[in-house]
Amino acid sequence: MISQRLRHAAAAILVCISLASTVRAAEAPRLVQKDGRHALMVDGAPYLVLGAQINNSSSWASTLPQVWPALEDMHANTVEAPVYWEQMEPAPGKFDFSTADLLVKGAREHHLHLVVLWFGTWKNGNMHYAPQWIKTDTKTYPRVINAAGEPIDVLSAQSRNNLEADKLAFAALMHHLAEIDGDEHTVIMVQVENESGIVGSPRDYSPASNREFAGPVPADLLQALHKQPGTWQQVFGGRADETFQAYHQAKYVNEIAAAGKHEFNIPYYCNVWLAYPVSELPERQVPNPGIGWPSGGPVQHILPLWKALAPSIDLIGPDIYSDNRQFYTSVLDTYARPDNALWIPETGYGDSYAPYLFLALGKGAIGFSPFGVDRTGWTWPPAGAGQHDLDPSKISPRAHTANYEQLAPMAREVARLNFEGKLKTAVDAAGMPEQELDFGPWKASVRFGFPENDGRPAPGTPDHSGRALVAQIGPDEFLVTGVEASVFFHTEGHLPGIRSQILQTEEGRYENGKWVPLRLWNGDQTDRGLNFHRSQNAVVHIKMGTF
Ligand code: DGJ
Repeated sequence: MISQRLRHAAAAILVCISLASTVRAAEAPRLVQKDGRHALMVDGAPYLVLGAQINNSSSWASTLPQVWPALEDMHANTVEAPVYWEQMEPAPGKFDFSTADLLVKGAREHHLHLVVLWFGTWKNGNMHYAPQWIKTDTKTYPRVINAAGEPIDVLSAQSRNNLEADKLAFAALMHHLAEIDGDEHTVIMVQVENESGIVGSPRDYSPASNREFAGPVPADLLQALHKQPGTWQQVFGGRADETFQAYHQAKYVNEIAAAGKHEFNIPYYCNVWLAYPVSELPERQVPNPGIGWPSGGPVQHILPLWKALAPSIDLIGPDIYSDNRQFYTSVLDTYARPDNALWIPETGYGDSYAPYLFLALGKGAIGFSPFGVDRTGWTWPPAGAGQHDLDPSKISPRAHTANYEQLAPMAREVARLNFEGKLKTAVDAAGMPEQELDFGPWKASVRFGFPENDGRPAPGTPDHSGRALVAQIGPDEFLVTGVEASVFFHTEGHLPGIRSQILQTEEGRYENGKWVPLRLWNGDQTDRGLNFHRSQNAVVHIKMGTF
């Protein structure tokens, strides 16, 4: 009797478990927000994108074999790869989805998730990926007209024909992705366009646009930005041209995204060519829209407009190619908003950019992705990133690899703890070799650089590469990891060891969501803080107590 009951109970439990996993598997990727924090849910749990974006011309059967090994070596869990409008729609309405198929298949074979990048109307503020039948028919598919009255190689966002053509193609791609991936969730996000905007003019100066520009600012924009009525010049002054362009462009991209979402409802984002300080981009010395950055895109000062007028775009992610700490931090702060999950779809490949993953995580990022990861021999060295060997066979984004190797096994835990608001980070910076992370009653003091000399200030790391991550996993327990950092726990107003003590420090690793202990640290490994040396990749759980 008892055994029969047990059998029934066991059967019921099994049904529940398999139902729960079916529900999880059936759940499409989505973004969630709680108390201003964000998570990208993939198969029902927060997911941290340890991404790598491949080079622009690498989504081809001939080049993908040089892509996958680079991603594997880097320990990335997600590939970002483009699908090209020119290849996908060689003639109007005639679609070839072979690129998307190759990417989805390859990603699955290499146990990666995929972020699909739609290179459509815009690519880096130009129209270079439009199909030839669009490029050669300027009457039907009009260009932006610059202030001198010349058409330039950017499609006009003010043209219904341009919008409809892109929308049809994008929706077809999303329909196809829903068919091949609706159940498997290899594709976790879609980027709509690439660095949209106009390079070469602050706005479209076609006669129709000029007439509209002379008229009143539309009511939806006034309402979104809490402005009083007037003409564009009256309301926006020196930003009138750029705001006019952004208004049209945000709506254009939003309509394309809405049509795609109707087919395949997963998170959609736009990436941004930022407005850099002149000192960071010496080759573009004029800090004006259309010169310093593509006009109309969701740059820092235009972000509120895009957030209000492009609701089908779930998030806007900055491409950050300056390793100036102050600028990087300001960009992270601008794009991390309660209504915008922080996501860095592109950043520098060089070692100097790696600590910024930790900085971004400390601000709640859902993911991060260096650009140019593959072995096609093309590596775009961002300014000041000359430290890697340019021999293609040897190129490896070393410091990013170290980060990913460390975080990949516990990426789900990091994403969950961050979503729960339990994770903090510290990154070395000039004049800041000692930092403190505040966990209420517990404080974690982080000191960067070795050797540590008793009674002396922390030496710091010469390249400011020191970084540490601490997450609270219990009232008095913490997960800790880092690079060139030592971490000490103490209570408010007391030095480490006064009124508090380490009960246990356990080094281990995460395997499929389980903590696997490897050894206890004590003695030299804990007496001067928990030491994380560069190549060590250690992760510890520390349990503190008070007395
Ligand atoms: C930013 C763009 O979004 C990428 O596609 C690529 O062109 C990089 N710049 C670097 O070249």
